[in-house]
Amino acid sequence: MIPLGAEETIPAPQPVLAPLTSAAIFLVMSIKPGRESYATVRSLCADLPGIFRAVDFRRIEGGLSCVAAFGSEAWDPLFGKPRPAELHPFREIKAGERHAVSTPADLLFHLRAKRMDLCFELVTQIMQRIGGAVSAVDETHGFRYFDDRDLLGFVDGTENPRGAAALNAALVAGEDPAFAGGSYVIIQKYLHDMARWNALSTEEQERIVGRQKLTDIELSDEVKPSSAHNALTTIVEDGKEVKILRDNMPFGKPGQGEFGTYFIGYSRTPKTTEQMLQNMFIGKPPGNYDRLLDFSRAVTGSLFFAPSATFLENLEDE
Ligand code: HEM
Repeated sequence: MIPLGAEETIPAPQPVLAPLTSAAIFLVMSIKPGRESYATVRSLCADLPGIFRAVDFRRIEGGLSCVAAFGSEAWDPLFGKPRPAELHPFREIKAGERHAVSTPADLLFHLRAKRMDLCFELVTQIMQRIGGAVSAVDETHGFRYFDDRDLLGFVDGTENPRGAAALNAALVAGEDPAFAGGSYVIIQKYLHDMARWNALSTEEQERIVGRQKLTDIELSDEVKPSSAHNALTTIVEDGKEVKILRDNMPFGKPGQGEFGTYFIGYSRTPKTTEQMLQNMFIGKPPGNYDRLLDFSRAVTGSLFFAPSATFLENLEDE
């Protein structure tokens, strides 16, 4: 159990709040039809802590962490009732040229470490257990780029909540007691049009992101347009800012012209991230959309629930 503010405790979460690392793998999969496949995945979930320990201990200072999360369609056949109150498939958004696609998926493994070999080995071990029961939807290997920048050249992650604020932003608590300590996860894989982005002046780019490029200082309210990325993703409810916890990673194949940002956002309720997406794609007010999307195209979009570590530990093989 971990304390969450005044007299509230929740079961131990998975390492949702792991520190930023230099390597990550985002492994997204579907479970093949049939009871056997679900039983195989469920049995891996029960054994995952042991497999994790074996890989982690080979380089204990490597900071390996693994979060397993499950899609709406897979929840009932895997775990039965009850189900997390707000778990549903990712809702696509279409507005003008902009499209937040929905790519259905059953499983997400978010692996992070200081070194890629640890992530790579853990995926290998996971796949040895469930390879026959799943089909790959996407596998992206992310890396940390200079000064925590995305490939558009801006520092990414600065305004992430820290400490108690991060717990509060990312973890379900008393509102859904059976799933306290869990977290909703939204992922989107974006591809950037670097030639067009690089044709903008630095000042134009800064007005799109809402921060200075070199120093990462936020633009003042007088200069920052209401369409800036950090304006549209600031959500205020009852006078208080509601945050999510992000760990975006650059990825790509520069030799083949691929440059991307893998967005991952953990939140206590998916509504917060969904509101950010509405603001970005449709605009606030409608039409005042996020100009990052003129240079970035979402090619995946999925919503998962990462139950608490306690929930996974208590699973028994059928
Ligand atoms: C093309 C993909 C994206 C890129 C390159 C990107 C990049 C950035 C950058 C550079 C910042 C400013 C530094 C920081 O505070 O982290 C930022 C802030 C932020 N982004 Fe994104 N982002 C992307 C997609 C998204 C999406 C899809 C969401 C949510 C649905 C999101 C939510 C946020 C939030 C909440 C902030 C902090 C706003 C604040 O409190 O100032 N981002 N992003």
